[in-house]
Amino acid sequence: MSDRRRLSLGIDRFERNWMLVSLVVLVVFAAAVAIGSLVSGFGLPGVHSRVDPRTVASEGEFANPGLREIGPGEYQAYLLSRQFVFEPREIAVPVGSTVTFYVTSVDVQHGMKIQDTNVNLQVIPGHVSTLSATFDRPGIYPFICTEFCGLGHQGMFGQVIVEETG
Ligand code: CUA
Repeated sequence: MSDRRRLSLGIDRFERNWMLVSLVVLVVFAAAVAIGSLVSGFGLPGVHSRVDPRTVASEGEFANPGLREIGPGEYQAYLLSRQFVFEPREIAVPVGSTVTFYVTSVDVQHGMKIQDTNVNLQVIPGHVSTLSATFDRPGIYPFICTEFCGLGHQGMFGQVIVEETG
């Protein structure tokens, strides 16, 4: 009996148990993700709305990307990302401004991270991602694409210029 067992190609008891444990863990994780997104409504941070990536560059707010002043010290910045630029590449606001960024992509997945701020977005075609930042110190705040988006990825950057007010 014991000899036959040793020669069989059956799975070891401990190995089988551990396979079972990993399977249970995977099922629990998948269930947690499914329940989180479908029942509790968890999603990507900063998702604002959906757009059609084929037309977003020609109609709506992103047809004319850039800065809009919506009140004293309050701005909206619409940024269109494509391989391998942000449009516009440069935004200038007076010190103390609060800027809400709306960013989308016309092609592949990009990212947008503005140095020294909380703005760190996934930029996904079809989605508008949004986050706000208040710029209390004058200076240059570079932003970069944080998602490898192709051969020109490393050249995809821009800057927010926060100007001292006289
Ligand atoms: Cu866009 Cu990397």
